[in-house]
Amino acid sequence: MKHSVLVIGSFVQDLAFDVKGFPRPGETIIGDFRTNPGGKGYNQAVAATRAGIPTLFLGAVGTDAFGTNARKCARAAGVHAHFVTKPKHATGVAAITVNASGQNHIIISPGANFGLRPHDIPAKVYDSAQVVVCQGECDYGTVAHVLRTARRRGAITVLNPAPMRPDFDPGLLRYTEVLIPNESEFITLVKLQPACAALLRTAPFNAQGEFTESTLQSLKADALHRLCRALEVPVVIVTLGARGCFISQPDVYTRINAHEVEVVDTTGAGDAFVGGFAAGLVKFKHNVFEAAHYGNAVAALSVMQPGTSTAMPIAREIARFLKKRDHA
Ligand code: RIB
Repeated sequence: MKHSVLVIGSFVQDLAFDVKGFPRPGETIIGDFRTNPGGKGYNQAVAATRAGIPTLFLGAVGTDAFGTNARKCARAAGVHAHFVTKPKHATGVAAITVNASGQNHIIISPGANFGLRPHDIPAKVYDSAQVVVCQGECDYGTVAHVLRTARRRGAITVLNPAPMRPDFDPGLLRYTEVLIPNESEFITLVKLQPACAALLRTAPFNAQGEFTESTLQSLKADALHRLCRALEVPVVIVTLGARGCFISQPDVYTRINAHEVEVVDTTGAGDAFVGGFAAGLVKFKHNVFEAAHYGNAVAALSVMQPGTSTAMPIAREIARFLKKRDHA
């Protein structure tokens, strides 16, 4: 099968607990346990696959039971996956708690994901890819190699800098064509990038003190667009959770509102957006706005189900949802 979307990134076994409220320090509480394959990279690949776009996932696992299970789950879910085995590492795992309002806390132990190296990635995986997606759950040197190679091969490179780590390498932005951070990731990026930091010292930003999430939320659209431009990436899409997303392209910016839906579990909503967006780029002939509109619907549908990769909607559901919402 020739794939149009290539996701190179993390596989993590999610160990999730549904709880009424998050435990306080020192407190033990009882929750309901469930487990499913996850990891930001894998979730994004599942979202793109289920949206009907031929997708290849490439990631790393250990020789343990979670690694064996990863292959089984990918096969059962119809996900075209290439797992590299890292005998010296454990498969990545995540401890997730989801409260009664569907919000989450996540701790990951990346394990084999940090062991994935450029030499583990065969050159032929780039051959048919129109869109190549990476995240922040792998070694940054490997991410840089993937984005650089994909760019040279003429693919659209998408970087979802999640989770934002203290050692984030701003050099990655040089090879990124579409950057998709959430609000807190965006704030860190803005502080790291010298052109943005300089902009923050000028009006209207300097009047607002420390640049925080509430400063970001109070910014007018044209000011947010200026900050996005200073990141020097062709397209920046800031995901705003329940407030939708902001899209900044060289000459135009726009905002897409989130759909109002009944929220069960927000875990993986960002991944649903990114995977849906990557699929949308292929479906809508690289139109960024159409792709983001599509990713926004995939994210809305994903939060109505528990779990991460298992919560991703299929193309028929997405089409039905969009038809209803767009004509409401
Ligand atoms: O974005 C959600 C994902 O983050 C989970 O699947 C978990 O594995 C962590 O990587």
